[in-house]
Amino acid sequence: MNGDFSGDFGLVASPRRWHPKPVQVIENPAAFQAAARSAPRPLVLVPTMGALHEGHRALVRRARELAGPHGTVAVSIFVNPIQFDRASDLTAYPQPLDADLSACRDDGVDLAFTPQAAAIYFPDRSVTVTESSLSQHLCGATRPGHFDGVCTVVLKLFNLSGAGAAVFGEKDFQQLAVIRRMVRDLDVPVEIVSHPTIREADGLAMSSRNVRLLPEHRADAPRIRRALLAARELFQAGEHSAKTVADSARTHLEQSPFLKLDYLAVVDEETLQPVDTIQRPAVLAAAAFYGEVRLIDHVRLVDR
Ligand code: PAJ
Repeated sequence: MNGDFSGDFGLVASPRRWHPKPVQVIENPAAFQAAARSAPRPLVLVPTMGALHEGHRALVRRARELAGPHGTVAVSIFVNPIQFDRASDLTAYPQPLDADLSACRDDGVDLAFTPQAAAIYFPDRSVTVTESSLSQHLCGATRPGHFDGVCTVVLKLFNLSGAGAAVFGEKDFQQLAVIRRMVRDLDVPVEIVSHPTIREADGLAMSSRNVRLLPEHRADAPRIRRALLAARELFQAGEHSAKTVADSARTHLEQSPFLKLDYLAVVDEETLQPVDTIQRPAVLAAAAFYGEVRLIDHVRLVDR
């Protein structure tokens, strides 16, 4: 024996090392609040609507970094009915709860909150959180009431969990901006942490809705990313007219036999208001339908 047994350690490790610790799955909001309140700090929350993919899982890993090995990572899995503007989108939303819980277990999530809508919302609920500036355009304009639904549920999730921090994806950059504004304006004691967009190998932004794409639509969908990147190149080559930049993306997108554009816009990165001339950091954002499936993506337009 040379005293260095670290090389053997993996072979003799106790079986517990090979079995991730169980996730505490809680459906009842009051029980979740009680569990979260007494869980070790820091507690970091990752709000999701489930159908977890690598984008969500990257957020969960970031949450673990923030919480540390002894803190708590909580994930909420709740398809929030009040943020859907189309009933067909709500009913078609994938809900593979077992797979989601095993992803949570593999990623070392401590608490998974999986409520039913009836337990989250009183039938006579009468308070809604409305952000009235950043949500005017883009998804806020084409999905009426969407961000009211998002703000309301996210504030409830913050209140139930008592999280010190919460992780959100940059893919939904308008949502991120709206939530940051809500937290600022309402003094919500939570730190909002963002995570870059995770993409498929062909550039398509990961989304729970991607599984609903028909094969020919899935094959066409990376065009959204390509159109945005080509428009950004035009901007980087010196084109500062928002219309010209957006039109370049539009031309690319209109070549698709399947895609129907919902919106394409250049907005100021901070105010999210439309701009004519790109003089400050801006965002070129697109939303498009493939059949019933709506996808979003964006690129930043920042002078190099
Ligand atoms: P959902 O679409 O499930 O997304 C949950 C979180 O994952 C959001 O913060 C979203 O921005 C992030 N996310 C989704 N796809 C991503 C990707 N490809 N890369 C990185 N992050 C990604 O967003 C919602 O749910 C809901 O509106 C919610 C905030 C949970 C409120 O109901």
